[in-house]
Amino acid sequence: MSQSIYIVGSLNMDFVVQVETLPVPGQTVSGSGFTMLPGGKGANQACAVGRLGGTGQMIGRVGGDVFGETLKRSLQEAGVDVSQVLATTDEATGTALIPVETGGQNLIIVAAGANAKLTPVDVETALASAREGFVLLQLESPIETVGAALAVARKNGATTILDPAPARPLEQDLLQQVDILTPNESEALGLLGKTGGDVGVPEAAALARELLALGPRTVIVKLGDKGAWVETDGVSRHFPTHAVEAVDATAAGDTFNGALAVALAEGQGLETAVPFANAAAALSVTKLGAQSSIPDRTAVDAFVVTKEAS
Ligand code: RIB
Repeated sequence: MSQSIYIVGSLNMDFVVQVETLPVPGQTVSGSGFTMLPGGKGANQACAVGRLGGTGQMIGRVGGDVFGETLKRSLQEAGVDVSQVLATTDEATGTALIPVETGGQNLIIVAAGANAKLTPVDVETALASAREGFVLLQLESPIETVGAALAVARKNGATTILDPAPARPLEQDLLQQVDILTPNESEALGLLGKTGGDVGVPEAAALARELLALGPRTVIVKLGDKGAWVETDGVSRHFPTHAVEAVDATAAGDTFNGALAVALAEGQGLETAVPFANAAAALSVTKLGAQSSIPDRTAVDAFVVTKEAS
């Protein structure tokens, strides 16, 4: 039987529009195919947990508007418990504006709305009876709420997985409460006070080692189409991923984290959990949108089998 997975974080309605090339500041470009799709880094991770067969509970806040109900329904359809998704009636549900260019690159502007009202008391109450299991966090919630969730999760013996996205500086005492830290390349650079763009595998390995020294027990640097680097006691290696035809990279990182938690909650080790997460994330890139792109367990298992055979 797999352990429970609690996801603390944001729920957003994504306003997605396709463009040939992302605009630069001051530029107006034409788009097409406008659509509203369920998203939010927290909710996307929860959706991945549900679709991939995990036992997930979402902890967050939506506004008193119709988007809140739509976002809760999307998670329920994925099999996620939404009883701890609270309503803040005097706030709007979180929204995100996402232009996606041909080839899959995007940019994201988030208006936090009700997500900014998730309090330390909310998460302490929701996690009070959570024993063991996994607690997934990101940084679209107030930082004191993230800190409170990490503290109660650790006190209760749960394993904490923090996705430090969107990037922001983090105190070392917060990082010391993290069991598994999962930055992408730019977040890894930012956490270390460095700048730069695309990093290669050797640079990712060096970044992971530096981050490990700040307190997390494991660091996984997500490298997109280059896979992931894992650095922890006993494992220090690159896990490549499979090439896919990219349509939209939105929520690939969220899918990775949800999938990783599902595999670990089933008792798998990092050596099998990370390839599973890589496969789920790769598949998510082949479709438009956040939750609309997250594959189910059958699709991921079939993808892994096909790729292993080829
Ligand atoms: O990680 C992708 C997500 O970031 C989007 O769904 C958007 O809502 C923002 O939270």
